[in-house]
Amino acid sequence: MTRCWWEGGTIYQVYPRSFQDSAGDGIGDLRGMEQRLDYIASLGVDAIWLSPIFPSPMADFGYDIADYRGIEPLFGTQADFDSLLAAVHARGLKLLLDFVPNHSSDQHPWFIESRSSRNAPKRDWYIWHDPAPGGGPPNNWTSDFGGSAWEYDAATGQYYLHAFLTQQPDLNWRNPELRAAMHDVMRFWLDRGVDGFRIDVLWHICKSLDFADNPLNPDYHPSMGEKFLVLQTHSTDQPEIHAIVRDMRTIADSYRGGDRCVLIGEICLPLPRLMTYYGNGSDGVHLPFNFALIETAWQARTIAQFIEEYESALPPGAWPNWVIGSHDAKRVAGRLGEPQARVAAMLLLTLRGTPTLYQGDEIGIGAVDILPDMIRDPRELREPGLGLGRDPARTPMAWDGSPHAGFSTAKPWLPLHADWRTRNVSAQLEDPHSILMLYRNLLSLRRDSHELAKGPYEPCLDGAPLASSGDDVCCGCRDAAMSSTCVCGVAMYRGP
Ligand code: GLC
Repeated sequence: MTRCWWEGGTIYQVYPRSFQDSAGDGIGDLRGMEQRLDYIASLGVDAIWLSPIFPSPMADFGYDIADYRGIEPLFGTQADFDSLLAAVHARGLKLLLDFVPNHSSDQHPWFIESRSSRNAPKRDWYIWHDPAPGGGPPNNWTSDFGGSAWEYDAATGQYYLHAFLTQQPDLNWRNPELRAAMHDVMRFWLDRGVDGFRIDVLWHICKSLDFADNPLNPDYHPSMGEKFLVLQTHSTDQPEIHAIVRDMRTIADSYRGGDRCVLIGEICLPLPRLMTYYGNGSDGVHLPFNFALIETAWQARTIAQFIEEYESALPPGAWPNWVIGSHDAKRVAGRLGEPQARVAAMLLLTLRGTPTLYQGDEIGIGAVDILPDMIRDPRELREPGLGLGRDPARTPMAWDGSPHAGFSTAKPWLPLHADWRTRNVSAQLEDPHSILMLYRNLLSLRRDSHELAKGPYEPCLDGAPLASSGDDVCCGCRDAAMSSTCVCGVAMYRGP
């Protein structure tokens, strides 16, 4: 029984700066994306999640929004958006937007007003705090991008909170007017016809009321980045968040019969905490993103064990989901090599639950070297050299062997992967054994088989306990290495 389109559907993430440029400025845009919709439809996916397209100073490439209801001129116009949405729907696809509720840009008129005076009507729409007794930031909270999460505003003598860049002040979801304004933003886009949202850093949007210091992280090492200096006990994942999520869900459910709009929460928390974001099934997000395939060591037993843990942690009626890549993570083929990226594709598209794939992974874009003068990601610029930069995952899509890989007529904003002349869509469509054809075949198999998308999950272990030690043997090709040398495409291994 299909309850909702997204239960049997596959989501494809488009990072608009890097998908297709139509304006000749080296940056992807909405018109370009519309020109490539037939490609997306031909993959066999069901929905597109589009990273932010709203007006933005681009300090964090669109995740710093200066107008929640507009379209960034670099990407196009409202008319371009309407045309894109109509074209998406005409192909039977859905369109999900990126809703960024935790923070706006410091250039948003709300923040400009908020910082204008302590008595400004919108002062409380952001999180302001007096300096600590004796001066300095109010507490030890750190930004996810390094450094203190507090920035001093000399004009008004208080600090404002920013969980990310100083240009991304955190909004105050405890303020009812702010909440109402953000609900209006959701309705604005739902009224225009979008099919749901991916909600950015959802677990961040509610902070503890007493602003207590976060506990120090006993496992901190400088190579992790300063975000990990403390455990985010008081700055994220507070119990009151679930009432905020419930309101969002009520809005989504009030559109198109209550089962058409999907809410996907970006939530990076341990499994038991992650599961709470499903709520009771009708008051949480539909899909709290599950990043385990990105984060878990790529070892068959470890992955199998996680799948079991995840399946058994799901609350009754909750629908699973799996993610293999994103604009924030290292490319799957970069981490594992193409042979294992193929195995990962098989796992992603044969597990029960909604899969999300990230543009470019379907052609196996691997690691991309970003030379120092080409670095664009503020994450890398703030804490250089730790390997935290996200530029390698954001390089342009390669369409063919023409100049700039058919992405643009101008030099792209980030370099292409080195092997783009052979690793591109057009070349891979000609090759029945390419990773792109594997993706297309898997997606088609999945569409034709209710069991693959929705059937119950049962591990096939040949009797070997998951946690047993000893060499792994692939039960497909019997390759004892259980490593990137095994390319038979069987995703399950057993002990000897
Ligand atoms: C999310 C986005 C990431 C962004 C961050 C701050 O994690 O995916 O790209 O930098 O939020 O908005």
